[in-house]
Amino acid sequence: MSFSCIRLSKICFLLSVIFCAVLLLLIPKFQASWRPRNYPQPHPPPVFNVSSKSDIPLQQVESSSVDHLEDEANNIVPSVREELLKKWNRYIIDTGRSNLKANRKINDSPTYPFHNVVKDHVGLVEVSAKEKLDLKDIFIAVKTTRKYHKTRLSLLFQTWISQAKGQTFIFTDWEDRELRLRAGDHVINTNCSAVHTRQALCCKMSVEYDKFLESGRKWFCHVDDDNYVNLPNLLHLLSAFSHSQDVYVGRPSLDHAIEAADHVRNDGSTTVKFWFATGGAGFCISRGLALKMSPWASLGSFISTAERIRLPDDCTIGYIIEGLLEVKLLHSPLFHSHLENLQRLRGEAVLRQVTLSYGGPENKRNVVSIGEVFSVQQDPTRFKSVHCLLYPDTVWCPTLMVK
Ligand SMILES: *[C@@H]1O[C@H](CO)[C@@H](O)[C@H](O)[C@H]1NC(C)=O
Ligand SMILES: *[C@@H]1O[C@H](CO)[C@@H](O)[C@H](O)[C@H]1NC(C)=O
Repeated sequence: MSFSCIRLSKICFLLSVIFCAVLLLLIPKFQASWRPRNYPQPHPPPVFNVSSKSDIPLQQVESSSVDHLEDEANNIVPSVREELLKKWNRYIIDTGRSNLKANRKINDSPTYPFHNVVKDHVGLVEVSAKEKLDLKDIFIAVKTTRKYHKTRLSLLFQTWISQAKGQTFIFTDWEDRELRLRAGDHVINTNCSAVHTRQALCCKMSVEYDKFLESGRKWFCHVDDDNYVNLPNLLHLLSAFSHSQDVYVGRPSLDHAIEAADHVRNDGSTTVKFWFATGGAGFCISRGLALKMSPWASLGSFISTAERIRLPDDCTIGYIIEGLLEVKLLHSPLFHSHLENLQRLRGEAVLRQVTLSYGGPENKRNVVSIGEVFSVQQDPTRFKSVHCLLYPDTVWCPTLMVK
């Protein structure tokens, strides 16, 4: 009996040893499968989400592209600057979304006063906000520089400025006695640098803006010294609006909105997408809107705004208006810069535009096609011919012109 009892306890002992061994073997497996649930794993370092476009391209825009733009934009002609902007825009996030956004905005606000203007992207449209406007209500700022006083500016004085002496103000960077005698206090020496840099251009725009506010006039129009301003057409365009409404009208230099890191409202971690009117074609801003711009534009703050976003003067205007004030640029095909193919403008159509321009020395043949009032040799820019068609009784126009 005792034998069987000892045997039984031996078997029991063996069984318990085997059970313990199996248990010991299994424990690591349980531990392995439990650990993820019971103990937090160390997190991998956060990775940039490459598929989310809104981060990576912006880094490029901010650090390399804009700096690249900035470096190259200094001391180069505006046409090159435009090219750079175009190149730069390849980095910039899609345009489809911006259009969608623009459309939605317009539809969302049925009271938006220029609904049809924006929708149709046209210039001369009849809208309800008509007001009686006189040429003297417009402040026309002509931006120039020392080296163009005798050439470009003289041509403007001879042509369209002669019809708008009281409205036109010349913004330059040099005290020129001859010019002073000709235009008196309508010449403003901005004391800005004469170099063609982003900073110098912004400096001039800043003075233009301040002088406009000071003038108390209803409309601010900026043009370059290679623009012809068709005054009756300008007046007609602006009389479609009220100066107390928010109006920003001109030709966009790109076919899509540009996007920049927003360093004004925050540290640049978000972006703002906006259109801007190219300065080389001229643009106009209502007084109502200009007043709203003042926190970012008056008394030198324009320069600091431009510094923060590191963009040229005309882009900065667009940034303040579209980006910060959320007022849409009215796209008008009636403004023209030397960067377009101007030869496509011919005959009667030339006389229906608001501004014209001409190709620089590197592209002399890029001029509007207008009949033989003067030959191309006598009138290489075609401005004299245009002027004689508009004002045939001007003393230097051919007598044949007088009806
Ligand atoms: C990356 O961004 C895309 C688009 O915004 C999003 O669908 C995706 O879930 C994101 N992936 C990660 C890992 O965050
Ligand atoms: C430029 O400097 C002159 C001379 O100091 C001064 O009279 C003039 O007001 C300055 N112009 C501007 C726009 O500040």
